Amino acid sequence: MCQIKIAPSILASDFSRLGETVKRLEENGADLIHCDVMDGNFVPPITFGAQAVKQIRPHTALPLDCHLMVLHPETHFEDFAAAGADLITVHAEACKKLLPRLHEIKARGIRAGAVINPATPVEALFEAAEVADMLLVMSVVPGWGGQKFIPESLKKIERLREYCVKIGRPELDIEVDGGITPQNVKDVICAGANVIVAGSAVFRSENMREAIEALRG
Ligand code: DX5
Ligand code: ZN
Repeated sequence: MCQIKIAPSILASDFSRLGETVKRLEENGADLIHCDVMDGNFVPPITFGAQAVKQIRPHTALPLDCHLMVLHPETHFEDFAAAGADLITVHAEACKKLLPRLHEIKARGIRAGAVINPATPVEALFEAAEVADMLLVMSVVPGWGGQKFIPESLKKIERLREYCVKIGRPELDIEVDGGITPQNVKDVICAGANVIVAGSAVFRSENMREAIEALRG
């Protein structure tokens, strides 16, 4: 059984207080900080980029999990590496080829992830499963926090975990992102995910520590 890790998404937080927020997440039991980078092209909204990641870096020792919802992600690898990203995840839909992109990330000493949108078949991650450090299944259409979990994502996670077992990587991190609540997290973990992204569930709660704990299933 893989270790369950909670990756709160700062997308749901107050952007004027990011430093303070990541520190508070660390003190309250988060395992990773999920940074949602949006470019206004791959997804309609724009959030923040490598400069913001660089500025939050000194405020936490937790790994910074950078989810790049951007076109041409490879043009940003250098900046995110210099900013102190620990993990860079690229969308299959934004890359003609995933493998070279994953190798470029790893060549910078950073963990590499690959992600698919809800409309993309899970097979799009199979090749990446051989080299990636993490696979991410979007359980909402990317771009916005606070959406409803798409139940069909469970089947995709199951198939992906089965595939990881089949290729001899049973413990590969499988992350799920979007609409996760204390109510549905058990299903997601049962299906085979072990890295849980949560924006609203963490930031719209009264007690951050309890909210994070409640996501461990
Ligand atoms: C959506 C982002 C998610 C989002 C999750 O495009 O990738 O990380 O912040 O937010 P919730 O948990 O509110 O669905
Ligand atoms: Zn995300």
